Amino acid sequence: MGKVVRVVLGTLLAALLVVAAAQPVLANDEKQMGGGKAQKSLYDRLGGKPAITAVVAEFVGNVGADNRINKFFAKTDLANLQVQLVNQICEASGGPCKYTGGSMKEVHKDMGISGADFGALVEDLVKALDKFKVPEKEKNELLGILGPMKSDIVTK
Ligand code: HEM
Repeated sequence: MGKVVRVVLGTLLAALLVVAAAQPVLANDEKQMGGGKAQKSLYDRLGGKPAITAVVAEFVGNVGADNRINKFFAKTDLANLQVQLVNQICEASGGPCKYTGGSMKEVHKDMGISGADFGALVEDLVKALDKFKVPEKEKNELLGILGPMKSDIVTK
């Protein structure tokens, strides 16, 4: 084999190895959706744990200042609630967290929460998402994950 051919083959092999090594990273980074279009997880699109933490802190602040529903939280450890909410949203949006709190049904069962109370809390969340300029698509995806929990939370 001539020297030039060996150099060319060697270069090609090196290039192939680089491409092969990059594959798992790409596959992890961008999940393939049905249409073949690359799509990051909602967790990533929200901005990961720092962004979720900022939104939840604002959200919990809004709830605490909301006279329609803050009586429910009078005896609540808000710092702990915040941690639980961050982990819940992080996990539900495809992030690497683990929610360790109780089931939505168990946690809220004796609170007598109405549909109006639930609506007020969602408003407080939307206000927080808007403050941080979370785009409409991501906002609706998150609300689409939390919305179905209503039937476990509203008991009145
Ligand atoms: C989609 C809507 C909601 C979600 C995702 C949600 C989520 C949670 C989570 C993760 C916790 C912590 C559970 C734990 O520590 O084990 C919690 C606690 C609590 N939630 Fe909700 N919740 C929702 C709606 C509501 C509403 C509408 C109210 C009342 C207006 C409410 C009142 C409370 C209270 C008072 C606690 C604290 C209980 C305590 O002090 O230990 N939640 N919620």
